[in-house]
Amino acid sequence: MTRMIKIFDTTLRDGEQSPGASMNVEEKVMIAKQLARLHVDIIEAGFAFSSPGDFEAVKRIAHEVEGPVIASLARAKPEDVDSAWEALKGAPKVRIHTFISTSDIHLKHQFRLTRDQALKRAVEMVERARGYVEDVEFSPMDATRSDETYLCEVLEAVIAAGARTVNIADTVGYAIPHEFGSLIRTIRERVPNIQQAVISVHCHNDLGLSTANSLAAISEGAGQVECTINGIGERAGNASLEEVVMTLRTRRHLFGADTRIHTEEITKTSRLVSKITGMTVQANKAVVGANAFAHESGIHQDGLLKEKMTYEIMTPASVGLGQSRLVLGKHSGRHALKKRLEELGYQLTEEELNAAFERMKRLADQKKEIFAEDIETIVNEELSKIPEAYVLRKIHVESGSEVTPTATIELAVNGQSIQNVAKGDGPVDAAYKTIAAITQTKSRLLSYVVAAITGGTDALGEVTVRLEEDGKTVMGYGADTDIIVASAKAYLNALNKLAYWKTKKGQGDGKVGLI
Ligand code: KIV
Ligand code: ZN
Repeated sequence: MTRMIKIFDTTLRDGEQSPGASMNVEEKVMIAKQLARLHVDIIEAGFAFSSPGDFEAVKRIAHEVEGPVIASLARAKPEDVDSAWEALKGAPKVRIHTFISTSDIHLKHQFRLTRDQALKRAVEMVERARGYVEDVEFSPMDATRSDETYLCEVLEAVIAAGARTVNIADTVGYAIPHEFGSLIRTIRERVPNIQQAVISVHCHNDLGLSTANSLAAISEGAGQVECTINGIGERAGNASLEEVVMTLRTRRHLFGADTRIHTEEITKTSRLVSKITGMTVQANKAVVGANAFAHESGIHQDGLLKEKMTYEIMTPASVGLGQSRLVLGKHSGRHALKKRLEELGYQLTEEELNAAFERMKRLADQKKEIFAEDIETIVNEELSKIPEAYVLRKIHVESGSEVTPTATIELAVNGQSIQNVAKGDGPVDAAYKTIAAITQTKSRLLSYVVAAITGGTDALGEVTVRLEEDGKTVMGYGADTDIIVASAKAYLNALNKLAYWKTKKGQGDGKVGLI
């Protein structure tokens, strides 16, 4: 019989710990809704105690997103567990996920706790969480560098205290597949009450082994995998959801296991996460990279034309790729847009629909054909809007082989029009220098990435930038048929986020560290 492996998505928590990947509450809610469409079993919506923003995100997702169980992370501390419950209470399907380290390296050098003290804290906090909810998960952090006998002792104690999932964390991505698989086997053999809990695994990718380790654990009986979209996460990231899920789907007979994931939603989810976090996916990334289904060699192309099975182990359609349908044109009305949006899984308010419709009309003037991806881009931009201190009014850029690139830009700055002109090394540089002069920003541009959303020279170009100021990194995103305009929008989007963050900073929005 095929076992169903639970998919615990931690894109919004561990994924957000990727440098620069911070998301605002609206963005998190949007991703959570897409994760629900993807059919993940559990969404770790955040770490409620860590900041007011995370608290709000956990609360809103728990109340607004239907389908998956919504979890909040909590250190093994009373204030964390209580805050997780505060954010989750009243919502239909919730979990508290508490954790403490079990490795001597962490206990001795970081927490200054003895093994006995850590075990006691773990048990007390699981009991405290069980006082609030049935569904409690416990993670022994750095489990793979912990003494096995002590680890098994802790697991037995937390299960006896009421943990229903125990999550074996390879926190520093140190494990090797056969070793990790054998750790899971040992836990099954040596923890007497292990049948009362689901064994979960949480693998980091420091040695590029997170997917392999997760799969080795499944082979040895793990029933839940913690993972993230595009494999984002702390340092080298976490096991990538799409890799784990598509391996199980493609080789389900070998594993005797599968997941409930609607794999056709994978590409869309990957794009959304990439857009919102600004973490572009490498072209050769398994499953979701731009080249994942591109066959370049003549021999391969010849084989594929004769029979797809020759070089294709899964179809692009199975991950929702290649369904770039022409969905709307210049003469489509508001009703058609609403219907298409519903088909794509979006429920917009009347106000959001109006804004998206206006954008769609403008785009239709610039571009004959509008594809599903274009509509997603527009909607994502509309839904993730934050208050805008800077609004682009006009932009004119001169460039070419015989002229010095010069940009003339007019912005509304807190409602007041300001215009400026600057020269640069190229048209984007000129535009950015002009915007920097108007906004007087002290931020540093860390990265600038351009990509085309759909094919053709009239494609919507999307630009993602990353800015840093006072230790805060933000991502900006802009899309337009004119790449210079898209660049200006992306820069302004990031500057607006920084401005918004500064207004919030006064209200204590800085996050506490994980430990
Ligand atoms: O990597 C880790 O150990 C974690 C825990 C909080 C589960 O993210
Ligand atoms: Zn982690």
